[in-house]
Amino acid sequence: MDNIEKLEQIVTNAKQWILDAGAQIRQSFTTNTLEINFKENPSDLVTDMDKQIEKFFIKKINETFPKHRILGEEGFGDDVKSLEGTVWIIDPIDGTMNFVHMKRHFAISVGIYHNGSGVVGLIYDVVNDELFSGIKGKGAFLNEQPLKKLQAIEIKEAVIGMNAGWLLEKERIHPSILPPLIQSVRGTRSFGSAAIELAYVASGKIDGYISLRLSPWDFAAGKVIIEEVGGHVTTICGEQLVLLNKQTPLFAARPGLHSEIVNNYIKN
Ligand code: IPD
Ligand code: CA
Ligand code: CA
Repeated sequence: MDNIEKLEQIVTNAKQWILDAGAQIRQSFTTNTLEINFKENPSDLVTDMDKQIEKFFIKKINETFPKHRILGEEGFGDDVKSLEGTVWIIDPIDGTMNFVHMKRHFAISVGIYHNGSGVVGLIYDVVNDELFSGIKGKGAFLNEQPLKKLQAIEIKEAVIGMNAGWLLEKERIHPSILPPLIQSVRGTRSFGSAAIELAYVASGKIDGYISLRLSPWDFAAGKVIIEEVGGHVTTICGEQLVLLNKQTPLFAARPGLHSEIVNNYIKN
């Protein structure tokens, strides 16, 4: 993505499409009866809107950037096995359970990677009309207002996003690891949308986010946005993420806090 004009064209289109997709979802609240199904289990929901929005992006991207490839959660895109060239990584609705149950607290997440490197991240909180964006080397924004660089804070002041489910017996983190962390921080929150929680880390609303089973479309955009404000997004042990891996145990946080939690709580 050396060609700056091309990057601007990509960003302009991607922002317009994500806003248009959000408008389609808001419109559906008044006009559509939602068709709800589950994939592997009753917690893993998918609706006709998830599919409609993914297909909308695929059509637009294929028409405008025919050489780009698309990895979408609902599987209507390409069979992406490598990040060669330009790849759009799309979660048409992140937080489908919130979408179905509450009609709020869900987002559209679009990450654009070029030869493996994140160049654009867009997360649109549809109901709050908040568009978080990050462009590699150009900063991060909330509705075009620049986000501040993240500063270190003490652990006792930190609010960490995590799901209560991670306290159950799981193969990826021993149940004894999280309680001492929960006791040390100011508080924990669970928003039910990885994309929104990552956008909240980037904008300093929360200070960290832990999740144990994320897929590329959950974090591709958030990683770009957080890194633009100096935060870290790694595996839960502080290692570099393998972007195309599913079931990724992920930890994102402000600088300072990230290493403190990895070294003193997770690896300890
Ligand atoms: C889910 C949400 C949820 C996270 C799950 C994701 P979906 O995405 O981000 O907060 O805990 O791991 O799968 O299924 O609503 O797109
Ligand atoms: Ca998701
Ligand atoms: Ca989804």
